[in-house]
Amino acid sequence: MKERTLAIIKPDAVERGLIGEVIKRLEANDLKIVAMKMVYMNKAQAEGFYAVHTERPFFESLTTFMSSGPAVVMVLEGENVIGRYRELMGATNYKEAAEGTIRREFATDIEKNVVHGSDAPETAAFEISYFFNSFEIVD
Ligand code: CMP
Repeated sequence: MKERTLAIIKPDAVERGLIGEVIKRLEANDLKIVAMKMVYMNKAQAEGFYAVHTERPFFESLTTFMSSGPAVVMVLEGENVIGRYRELMGATNYKEAAEGTIRREFATDIEKNVVHGSDAPETAAFEISYFFNSFEIVD
């Protein structure tokens, strides 16, 4: 099934000069980018994006981190792209991520884990609309 997902290159990765490295891997794995921009979220915007995690103990730290510097947000599109991109990212905890995944190779911390990806079609729809309107996504 053709899907869309939201991908974020997080502030730790932008700071470390990993934008090109991540995009290279998306393209090498046939994950088509149909929208892209750089954003510098404030705390409230980061809290809104991660609202599902409000009750989690890491919420305060996560939203402080996500508003600590610029990030790159993208929409990816393709067959089964949600799962394919999650596979390429690797597990949230980089120590549990498979060899060759982005997080296994580049993450330094469970929180500063380089990339984000939507986990289901419903969350993808919310997350994409959080950053992009329909005119910003190419067909
Ligand atoms: P992400 O895929 O963006 O989804 C939620 C984020 O919260 C996750 O990546 C990590 O950055 C962060 N996160 C998840 N679990 C933990 C945890 N146990 N401790 C700290 N941060 C976490």
